[in-house]
Amino acid sequence: MDVSIVILAAGQGTRMKSALPKVLHTISGRPMLWHIVKEAKKLSDDITVVLYHEAETIRSYLEENFENLRFHIQDHANYPGTGGALMGIEFTNDRVLVLNGDMPLVESEELEKFLTIEADIVMSVIDLENPHGYGRVVIEDTEVQCIVEQKDCSESELAITTVNAGVYLFKKAILEKYLPELSNDNAQKEYYLTDIIAMAKRDGYTIKPIYVDEENFKGVNSKADLAHAEEIMQERIKSRWMREGVIFRLPKTSYVEIDVEFKGECEIESGCVLRGKSRIVHSHIKANSIIEESEIRYSSVGPLARVRPGSILEDTHIGNFVEVKKSHLKGVKAGHLSYLGDSEIGEGTNIGAGTITCNYDGKKKYKTFIGKNVFVGSDTQLIAPVKIEDDVIIAAGTTVTKDVPKGSLAISRTPLKIVQDFYYKFFGKK
Ligand code: UD1
Ligand code: CA
Repeated sequence: MDVSIVILAAGQGTRMKSALPKVLHTISGRPMLWHIVKEAKKLSDDITVVLYHEAETIRSYLEENFENLRFHIQDHANYPGTGGALMGIEFTNDRVLVLNGDMPLVESEELEKFLTIEADIVMSVIDLENPHGYGRVVIEDTEVQCIVEQKDCSESELAITTVNAGVYLFKKAILEKYLPELSNDNAQKEYYLTDIIAMAKRDGYTIKPIYVDEENFKGVNSKADLAHAEEIMQERIKSRWMREGVIFRLPKTSYVEIDVEFKGECEIESGCVLRGKSRIVHSHIKANSIIEESEIRYSSVGPLARVRPGSILEDTHIGNFVEVKKSHLKGVKAGHLSYLGDSEIGEGTNIGAGTITCNYDGKKKYKTFIGKNVFVGSDTQLIAPVKIEDDVIIAAGTTVTKDVPKGSLAISRTPLKIVQDFYYKFFGKK
């Protein structure tokens, strides 16, 4: 499409009170800036991201995750502010869509609406019950007159509840004409992009407001805003999957990141956390379970289980207090209280309660292989690296320190000793 997009992401985000740059704070598992770049990509191939604070960190994240982005480093020392951010950029197309990096909820369909309106400037406006923090839009006779930043507002301007959402479509000529004329004569000593509105109005250019909603155009300036935006995004993600046929019991209580995928008939009980690029296929995730960056196929997990990154569960059941990490379980049952890390476990194998793969010797991690149809008795420790072949029985309480051949029994136990009447002797009563 014939539009250049500029995403402003050079600000420090002081109101976040964090060492992490504001636009890298995450919503549903991805930085705010990722969300907006992803939507912008659907509209244009010409995207410039404006950076300054933590520019290298942000740039390398974006370069790892997107192709063909252009970067512009703002001359922040001399020209701070959203107007300063646009100074020095060469725009390729006749129209320039300006977005803020701190608007993680905006969807491309909403941005497309700007492109259908003919005007010198199209600007986004929201009516808010609580306009705190936003620039107020002064409208007279349905015409936008100017935008006044909160810190520059008079008493009566503060009462205006129509605010600037921060997205604009400018004719390139407007930016080229007015950017050099901006001044920093305001409360924050910044070059405000928003001042262009009054300048263009004065010279008789057409400015059209487009009314948008907070669900899409919410700006995130604080940790409270971040939490609110997260709720909106979560609602969106789970509603979408419910439309695709996933059952969520009490959806508000579960957290599902944006890269998680479901296929087939899945049920997610209450209080679950599903993270990263997890893929859930025809499976049942029971209450209060956590799945991180793993694949669960035709399996049931939980309640209260944790599957850590790099795991694959197929035709498997893991129950309460079972932790699996970087392991491949196929046709396995591990009902309770186990740690299975860096392991491969085959079909028909049963893992007794309290089984632990001792995968770490304090220096390095080692793998545990368990074959098919193995019966691992309760309270077994598998000292990795170790291999248990098919059709093995491991007796309860065994510490397995060497490989176990096919078809055998492995047992390590101190013989049981019974001392008659010891209790009565010890406590001195009968
Ligand atoms: C801005 C608008 C305000 C609007 C609000 C909507 C201005 C002057 N004000 O205010 O009218 O209601 O957005 O969310 O534009 N940035 C830079 N360089 C800078 C300063 C900021 O790139 O020197 C970037 C920030 O990284 C951020 C965006 O611009 O992504 C907005 O900056 P922010 O400081 O959050 O502006 P607001 O005060 O919210
Ligand atoms: Ca903002």
